Amino acid sequence: MPVIRFVREGRDVECYPGENLREVALREGIELYGLKGRLGNCGGCGQCITCFVEVVDGSVSGSLSPRTGVEEQKLRRRPEGWRLACQALVQESLLVLTRPQVGLPDAEALVAAALLQPLPAGPTAWPAVELAPGEPAEGEEEPGANAGQVETQSQG
Ligand code: FES
Repeated sequence: MPVIRFVREGRDVECYPGENLREVALREGIELYGLKGRLGNCGGCGQCITCFVEVVDGSVSGSLSPRTGVEEQKLRRRPEGWRLACQALVQESLLVLTRPQVGLPDAEALVAAALLQPLPAGPTAWPAVELAPGEPAEGEEEPGANAGQVETQSQG
């Protein structure tokens, strides 16, 4: 399972692959919004541009879904690594700085420390189910299972 390392908060949060970054953050009590966003955000529609996060350098490329059209438009004048949390789906483990527009004392040291501890790999694959030789896979019929049915139909 992917892990989101929230640098500002000093927390690692696990989520399912494909989960919405904003929803994970809110569920885990991570503060995404400044005052303006707390007073009135769009609820995740990509319209208020108050849920900025920064994907910290060193995170795995492709750790979030590609920028949406809304993000391309709304983040035109923002740094390359910024995203709207409500538009981003987590695909692999990554480091995130919430509210990058707000200063963070010792940001470089915090990021360096966060990068020191390796992130777990991306989504773990479900273990393959070992089938006994000759055993049909799920949804597959056993060979000859409906042979009697065919005979009955051909006799009628
Ligand atoms: S919550 Fe409004 S743009 Fe993300």
